Amino acid sequence: MANFTLDVNNQSLKVDVDPDTPLLWVLRDELELKGTKFGCGKALCGACTVHFNGNAVRSCSLPVSAATKGKITTIEGLSSDGSHPLQQAWVELDVPQCGYCQVGQIMSAAALLQRKKNPTDDDINSAMSGNLCRCGTYVRIREAIKLAAKKGGKS
Ligand code: FES
Ligand code: FES
Repeated sequence: MANFTLDVNNQSLKVDVDPDTPLLWVLRDELELKGTKFGCGKALCGACTVHFNGNAVRSCSLPVSAATKGKITTIEGLSSDGSHPLQQAWVELDVPQCGYCQVGQIMSAAALLQRKKNPTDDDINSAMSGNLCRCGTYVRIREAIKLAAKKGGKS
């Protein structure tokens, strides 16, 4: 075990965990931030996506020891009240089906909109290719990203 200080959603938080512990489990089990989901545990599905220094990363495959020197943002930190343009667009277009993958989808989309205010279809395909949805909501996800871009994407 070792002590780590993490910058999560603009808060400085201390945890005492094994250095190899994936960030996902620190967020969920130590910090009670349950929005980030576990899917495959192997960086293959995107359910666990959070931002690290503004980039979309797979928290299931990022050891906590590698996450100390940067800002971590989870879905809980995207907006305090669900007012992020992506969250609004997701609601407006009724994107989720079962919902399990959707937090990861939104976090990947938010990182994209931070880089590109008006992403093309190719930009969206490339940024979202690592986020799987077993329910096949891909068409609505793409439309929601475009709608959020119109509303003024931010992260
Ligand atoms: S749980 Fe991390 S990519 Fe699947
Ligand atoms: S909404 Fe069910 S897995 Fe994506």
